[in-house]
Amino acid sequence: VSRTTVVSAYDLLREDDWAESRPGSGTWVQPVSGSRSSRRQDILARSLSRNPVFETLLTGPNSMIDFSRANSGNPEGLDPELFAIQGDDLAQLLGQPGYAPMGLMALRRAIADRYTCTGVPTTPDQILVTTGAQQAISLLATLYVQRGDNVIIDNPTYVGALDAFRAAGARLIPVPVERDGVRVDILRGLLAAARPQIVYLMPSFQNPTGAVLGHEQRREVARMAAESGTAVIEDNTLADLALDGEAPPPLAAHAPSDAPVITIGSLSKLFWAGLRVGWVRAPESIVVRLARLKVVADLGSSVLPQVIAARLIPQTDHVKELRRRELLPRLDLFGGLLGELLPTWSWTRPTGGTFLWVRLPYGHAGEFAQLALRYGVIVTPGTTMSVDESHTDYFRLPFFQHPDNLREGANRLARAWDAYAPFADAGSRAVSVIV
Ligand SMILES: Cc1ncc(COP(=O)(O)O)c(C=O)c1O
Repeated sequence: VSRTTVVSAYDLLREDDWAESRPGSGTWVQPVSGSRSSRRQDILARSLSRNPVFETLLTGPNSMIDFSRANSGNPEGLDPELFAIQGDDLAQLLGQPGYAPMGLMALRRAIADRYTCTGVPTTPDQILVTTGAQQAISLLATLYVQRGDNVIIDNPTYVGALDAFRAAGARLIPVPVERDGVRVDILRGLLAAARPQIVYLMPSFQNPTGAVLGHEQRREVARMAAESGTAVIEDNTLADLALDGEAPPPLAAHAPSDAPVITIGSLSKLFWAGLRVGWVRAPESIVVRLARLKVVADLGSSVLPQVIAARLIPQTDHVKELRRRELLPRLDLFGGLLGELLPTWSWTRPTGGTFLWVRLPYGHAGEFAQLALRYGVIVTPGTTMSVDESHTDYFRLPFFQHPDNLREGANRLARAWDAYAPFADAGSRAVSVIV
């Protein structure tokens, strides 16, 4: 490599605190224990600044159509009174100290009963309530990952998981996701070769591809976890949003009760993200260790939403149907508009979840996303969701938004594509449009 490259590499190493230069002496590798926490903060800050999904959460609403996230309000047709705390519940709650680091027992029982009813026998001791699924991922990253540890992660994947594992200092090893879900054959090879601390997967309605892993492959992944002792995290945040039938049973349904298969769930997609209620289902020994970290993180999630959540969970089947009725017409509407206005774009119609994983016929999705901003629409390019900056010709579009947004968004995307397409062709990258 050239001298400039070497100098730049040393600059980067110094910037990230990996190396220290002493005048007249040379450049030295920093001890790992050094300023580890400040490095972690740096990684986190940089990671967030790269991530448009969280950036828009922080900056608040504006006139842009924001397709970087998939959210809607609470389900249409569900009585809003269910989100209120009733007088009796409140009186009983206020009589208690208010700290419940593992979660309110009523909620842990409701979650455990739900698993048991759907064929995955579970006790409340196997449940830890978290502040959304995002905190579940962060706690698991803290429990399992030391700087430099290997983590196998599906690719492309959920950006919040990338951020959490990167912040913990993980070395991320991608395992590809295809139409039928993650490549289990490749996962087997990687498990043996990389000896990771954990594996993170989304078997049902994978974010962003919408892929669903088949029964037999699930059985095999559960077997791998049991045989290798490697913790396998299944993030089932989107699993309740089936549009056509049901998602297959979780990996946990195929694993012996002491196997390190860890299931993450959330009320954010089915009910409402504002509740900030998620959970981890795992063998009790893992839940106990996670609970210690939860105490350090926040002494326990707020109990008010947990009272509401315990009352909502028995409504799950009804709300799944409400969501299906809400989502299907939106998928039809958005899919129809894109087909009409942007016929050269391709995607596979998902059977659940909230996203279309769109492939451009040519060009670079990152460039297109930059140009789309000028046309008033925010989209997330595939590279943001990729472990290795791949999926350059893909981006993610949510159909879980108000129909007016979908209509206006599709029109803006079409105008942006009209402007971009003449500059982009399969062979050359249209750098000129990113200024
Ligand atoms: C796959 C996945 N996991 C976790 C989360 C975070 O969910 P929560 O709102 O429960 O923190 C999301 C949010 O979109 C997600 O898509």
